[in-house]
Amino acid sequence: MSKLVVINACVRQRDSRTLRISEPIIDALALRYSVTRYDLPLMDGVVPLSPVKLAERESGLIAPWALEAAKNIADADRILIAAPFWDMSFPAVLKCFFEQTTLFGVTFVDDGKSCSGLCKAPKVLYITTRGSAIATGDPLEQATPYLRAIGTLWNLGELTTIAATNTDYGSPAELEANLSACISEGLSLARTW
Ligand SMILES: Cc1cc2nc3c(=O)[nH]c(=O)nc-3n(C[C@H](O)[C@H](O)[C@H](O)COP(=O)(O)O)c2cc1C
Repeated sequence: MSKLVVINACVRQRDSRTLRISEPIIDALALRYSVTRYDLPLMDGVVPLSPVKLAERESGLIAPWALEAAKNIADADRILIAAPFWDMSFPAVLKCFFEQTTLFGVTFVDDGKSCSGLCKAPKVLYITTRGSAIATGDPLEQATPYLRAIGTLWNLGELTTIAATNTDYGSPAELEANLSACISEGLSLARTW
């Protein structure tokens, strides 16, 4: 069975609208993929690299969870990232996860002149909700460009963003319609993705 890595950075967990969109899509994908899931808000150790941690890593001492996650990412056929729009990007815990799993010799290498990725997933799905009416591709939306950039470093392929916008300002009915539309879009994608 092909492998899907799910990276969940929905800090509000059960209250998360991003997760509400994501769960049925993950369930649909689980019919075709074996799923390895990282629920970042529940994990210890997904923190910024401190001077001590960076020195440890440079001496070859890598947090076991980070090494395993990096290997699973490198080996994955698909990656799904669920993360709300925070501070024009995504929650810091997701950046900490990337910081700790971007590992030389696992997710990327360099030849002394430039870097190249060691991952192989040709497709990445990013699911998000944004409080305001900022569309994907708006210069104010800095999550999709970052995910594309880290995907380039890691050698990931095509990035698809599914986003509900204006979640904090519409009526409850508009919010429901918005979330349902994203779930339908994701379920439709999941059939062939
Ligand atoms: C800490 C924090 C930062 C946020 N920053 C932004 C922001 O920069 N722009 C925006 O449009 N909405 C922002 N929001 C609103 C969220 O994007 C919105 O409520 C989203 O639907 C939350 O997703 P969730 O229900 O999955 O947690 C922020 C919310 C929080 C809690």
